[in-house]
Amino acid sequence: MSTVILSQDELSRYNSLIPSLKKRIAEAGIERGQPLTYRVKTYGCQLNESDSEKIEGILQSIGLIEASEDQSPDFLIFNTCTIRENADIRLFGNLGAYKAQKRQNRDMFIAVCGCMMKQQENIERIKKSFPYVDACFGPADIHMLPSILDKKLNQRKRVFAVSDEDYLVDDVDVPVLHKRKFRALVPIMYGCNNFCTYCVVPYTRGRERSRSSAQILSQLRELAASGYKEVMLLGQNVNSYGNDKEDEISFAELLEEAAKIPGFSRIRFMTSHPKDISEEVIYTMKKYKNIERHLHLPMQSGSSAVLKRMNRHYDQEQYLKTALLFRKELPDATLTTDIIVGFPGETEEDFLATLDVVEKCRFDSAFTFQYSRRPGTKAADYPDQIPQDIVTERFGRLLELQNALTFSSNESCVGNTEEILIEGKSATAPDVLTGRTNSNRLVNFRIPSGIQLNGKEIDSTASDFDADQFEGMLAMVSITRAKPYSVEGELVRFIDE
Ligand code: SAH
Ligand code: SF4
Ligand code: F3S
Repeated sequence: MSTVILSQDELSRYNSLIPSLKKRIAEAGIERGQPLTYRVKTYGCQLNESDSEKIEGILQSIGLIEASEDQSPDFLIFNTCTIRENADIRLFGNLGAYKAQKRQNRDMFIAVCGCMMKQQENIERIKKSFPYVDACFGPADIHMLPSILDKKLNQRKRVFAVSDEDYLVDDVDVPVLHKRKFRALVPIMYGCNNFCTYCVVPYTRGRERSRSSAQILSQLRELAASGYKEVMLLGQNVNSYGNDKEDEISFAELLEEAAKIPGFSRIRFMTSHPKDISEEVIYTMKKYKNIERHLHLPMQSGSSAVLKRMNRHYDQEQYLKTALLFRKELPDATLTTDIIVGFPGETEEDFLATLDVVEKCRFDSAFTFQYSRRPGTKAADYPDQIPQDIVTERFGRLLELQNALTFSSNESCVGNTEEILIEGKSATAPDVLTGRTNSNRLVNFRIPSGIQLNGKEIDSTASDFDADQFEGMLAMVSITRAKPYSVEGELVRFIDE
């Protein structure tokens, strides 16, 4: 694998196929008397979500429209994840369900992309057992989608286009469809160099390659100008941003430049690696109020011995130092983490060290995972894999502790009135809205009677009330009640009308 910076010429060659594809799709739509549709099913992390936004951008640029939930799409793309074993299992189950649909619509196009495609055995399985899959491509090959579609539509052959190169594409020139009206996902770097011994990402996403800060900042300025309130800077290890380039600014500097752009009320970033985060990042967060009051700092384990075998390059003491500095400098902010239970060789003592650090950091929430043995990674061959019953038992204990901490964190903000960025309808009820505080806390809230917007009173009990119309707006919400994983509240007033 090697990093290949894609030239503008080459990208233009792919993009030049778009007009003829568009013509073909339009003609097929006319013939059928109904426009052709697509659906992208996305698994995994925000980087995959961001990739799917590019895939959708390309699909829409050739004239496809998103299929409604009850429609069988003409173009179906699975963007896969393989971080843990259950991610893999889900894909093959889901694919099977589309066999019958493909039989009914022989022109249906099914493609699989994403991290699973970087594992040869998955490609082999698709070649052999899923003949109705038309194309496979890798996470670094999305810009080639016009050419993949062109080959399939013109030559009617299956296309397997997973390349070995780690492409770096100037994102500005790939069409992107931002799925949320208020949030723009902006990758600042691709790949990962860390080779944590449990993790597949360095194998599926290749080596670290940073986009140029000039390009990122100009994209951010455009996004702010077009009304996005929230931006999410993405990378597997944002704190090593720029290390692969000469004369590039640091992540803390990039964050500061982003914060200075007028327009964004929330700048978020994911993910920070404890070995690379600088104190400067914490001080920059403190200095700019439009940087989210939240740090996601995956700990993985609280035991220095386990961290060493995980190849994380920090120990318990260093982790605590960063976490506690963050707590001291930004006392109102939230601190969240990822934890793996049952890593090979984890003793009861190691696990107790994890519980101890969890207690000391008082994480506001945590993603907890049972260790999953991933073929090809170093830890898969470690001796002392932990029996499932012990993993389950430890996992239960961790969950119990973390649930108590999450609840107490939620309780601590009851009585506050906080600025909420509204995301739309909640999962609870049609008249309940959902949004997040600036510390990334999930808030479900109602609009009481008497609240006006643009001089008109809002009636959330009306049958035609549509909570989604408020997506992307900012409001002050009074927090009234803590729930295990969220809080409840009541809207006080809208901030921007
Ligand atoms: N780049 C991020 C993590 C990305 S993967 C970081 O280094 O922090 C997201 C999370 O999945 C990881 O933080 C880890 O907790 C979990 N994870 C990754 N591989 C795993 C495995 N093999 N088994 C269980 N959890 C895993
Ligand atoms: Fe995986 Fe480690 Fe890279 Fe995160 S830093 S993506 S856990 S290898
Ligand atoms: Fe999954 Fe790939 Fe993300 S393995 S977690 S989709 S980088």
